[in-house]
Amino acid sequence: MIDLNLQYKNLIETLKSQIPFQPEIGLILGSGLGEFAEETKIVKTFATDELPNYPQSTVQGHKGFIHFAELHSKKLLIYQGRIHPYEGYSIQECVLPVFIAHQLGVKKIILTNAAGGLNHLQPADLMLITSMNTFNIKNELAKLIGFATTEMRKRFFDFPSTNINSLIQKAALAEMVPLKEGIYWYSTGPSYETKAEIRMTQKLGGDAVGMSTVHEAIYASTLGMEVGAISCITNYAAGISPNKLNHNEVMETAELVKEKFEKLVKKIIELL
Ligand code: HPA
Repeated sequence: MIDLNLQYKNLIETLKSQIPFQPEIGLILGSGLGEFAEETKIVKTFATDELPNYPQSTVQGHKGFIHFAELHSKKLLIYQGRIHPYEGYSIQECVLPVFIAHQLGVKKIILTNAAGGLNHLQPADLMLITSMNTFNIKNELAKLIGFATTEMRKRFFDFPSTNINSLIQKAALAEMVPLKEGIYWYSTGPSYETKAEIRMTQKLGGDAVGMSTVHEAIYASTLGMEVGAISCITNYAAGISPNKLNHNEVMETAELVKEKFEKLVKKIIELL
């Protein structure tokens, strides 16, 4: 079993000695929401490359900052930038943001990401994640969590949280932001999928594919946090449209969606 308490003791102590407040809500920003922190009142920022042992993101559009911020009088812990398994990091390293959030007392966490759309999803849609595919990941996470106790086994499938999801739907209605729903399918990357993989995903029930979020959600839920997750559909998944996929398209669509995505997340925070 891997003990994150031991591995990141120094990091947690460094943070705890310098944080301005205990955060209540965590937010991990994916592409499309990368600049959301600017919409909040930032109280203190840590650059992740100055934190001991913090893995660095290598992906364009993923800055490495941790912000302590306020919005609607809620105290937020915002991760601007994410570390992904496809960058060569282990699942155990990739859940570090969630581990830190838990250590600092966060009870609710909202995860966002960019994803390729299938079925009823199109570029520029926002998708509330109603469930996730977790092939291959639970085993890796079990090394962190230890033997699954009955209590943990129950939690393992309690994500995304029903409470948070209905609140996200309420926020979307209040702001008149169209919000589709669907199942997020984890794809290991680092390349986008092949057409055959997407056909398989479609047959097995996936609505959007992406390379993050699932491990964060499972781990957060296992630690007892309430989890909500939203995908920004940045492109058609491979083979759905004749166009060849690339990261620029993902970034361009994310930019187009930014405003409505920010509006939605602000309202979610207000309602949480
Ligand atoms: N596949 C996997 N990850 C992604 C995609 C995709 O099509 N778009 C954005 N992230």
